[in-house]
Amino acid sequence: MTVTPAEIDISAVANDSRRVLLANRQHGVSEWDGRRYDFVCPSPQTYPFQWLWDSAFHAIALLCVDPELAKQELRCLLQGAQPDGFIPHMLLWEKAFHTAALNEYSIVLANPYYTATVQPPVLARAVWRVYQATKDRDFLLEVLPAVMRFFRWLKAYRDPDDDQLIAIIQPDESGLDASPKYDVLMQLGELPSERVLPQLVVSMKRLFSAYEAHREDPARLLALDVFNWEDVMFNTIYADGLRLIGGLCREAGYPATEAAEFERRARHVLSALEEKCWDERTGVFWDLYGYEEQRAHTLTFTSLFPLVLDSLDRHMVWRLVEEHLLNEREFWLPYPVPSVAATEPSFDPEHKTAVTWRGSSWVNSNYYLYWGLRAHGYRDVASELAKRTVQMVGIGGVREFFNPYTGAGQGAVDFGWTALVLDLIHAEGWGCGCAREEKSAHLEPFSR
Ligand code: GLC
Repeated sequence: MTVTPAEIDISAVANDSRRVLLANRQHGVSEWDGRRYDFVCPSPQTYPFQWLWDSAFHAIALLCVDPELAKQELRCLLQGAQPDGFIPHMLLWEKAFHTAALNEYSIVLANPYYTATVQPPVLARAVWRVYQATKDRDFLLEVLPAVMRFFRWLKAYRDPDDDQLIAIIQPDESGLDASPKYDVLMQLGELPSERVLPQLVVSMKRLFSAYEAHREDPARLLALDVFNWEDVMFNTIYADGLRLIGGLCREAGYPATEAAEFERRARHVLSALEEKCWDERTGVFWDLYGYEEQRAHTLTFTSLFPLVLDSLDRHMVWRLVEEHLLNEREFWLPYPVPSVAATEPSFDPEHKTAVTWRGSSWVNSNYYLYWGLRAHGYRDVASELAKRTVQMVGIGGVREFFNPYTGAGQGAVDFGWTALVLDLIHAEGWGCGCAREEKSAHLEPFSR
């Protein structure tokens, strides 16, 4: 059964999303070696730079505007790719905004124009999606090597215990800056709302000073064990990307052994998630932290995230969906999926703490979960999630995140990746109004 959200003005949501993508375009010539940039920033007022996972989401959404802009977004991003494979989490193209950024954000730069950290590797999915929609083989051959190098960099530098799971060195490397699951190491637990942000800044400074003496040797940072975190969402995105790269290697005509390398690694990451992070008692996945790999028992949407992987164990899929995602006390709120379960003491649906990922619903996580639900045959649940996501953006506007009870918009205005709602509208056949509307827009992923 397909649910048509008759009561929502879908074309208004689609038009507003397209407006934001076009209005957020930043272009010019940077003082960084005179390089040209042309990309969509997350929000001109709040986030004027190019972020790694934002840009990958923007590229996917841009397919509903102009596929050439989607390619341009990724080409611009890949100008930041370093010879060893590293791709930074932020590219600070516009020098005029640097001072404000350094005052406002808790970041460490590797170079005046880019940060020393990463973000989830959504890039592989974005390249796969752009290729799937355009079949532009030249584009694939141009960008795929840098994507592969990045995934090999993650393996080389971020899996020192060789358990197949990538570790992050600070919370915002997952993109989930202030998620309460990190409170145990960031010392944010049980603080009054107004104390959370100042304490987060203090804790970030503490991490940066611990790392300072070792920045030249990034492989050593995890060994310090100050923030050694194997994040379920990051690793799910990594496993998804590895598998898609395998298929893309075949499309590109690369050696079969190279495709096999990525696909084998994808299977190993999935097995590690199932063996080390799955909790049969509660029926969810938990992140692992510290050298001793303790489980972080805070129930957030990331505990459900392996749903995105289409070869996840069927029993686990069933428990995640039936016991948790569709549980109205935890995640199935009027405008799902909240970033933190409503049963958690840290759940902050009204954004009182003024920091991110502590209860509001976001469109990028809904996008991933939507496709995961479809891959596992939950077509109706996926449609319902898409419907409520469109509704939420209709109520709240193209904002950064949303109150999961009312749909009210929160955070930055005119926020780029919220335009991923275009992908959901398109996939549901509700008419996103783009020129393509091609029937094959969402073929199933390449076979494994
Ligand atoms: C916030 C989000 C992060 C995002 C950035 C730019 O810091 O938490 O995930 O990449 O904004 O939009």
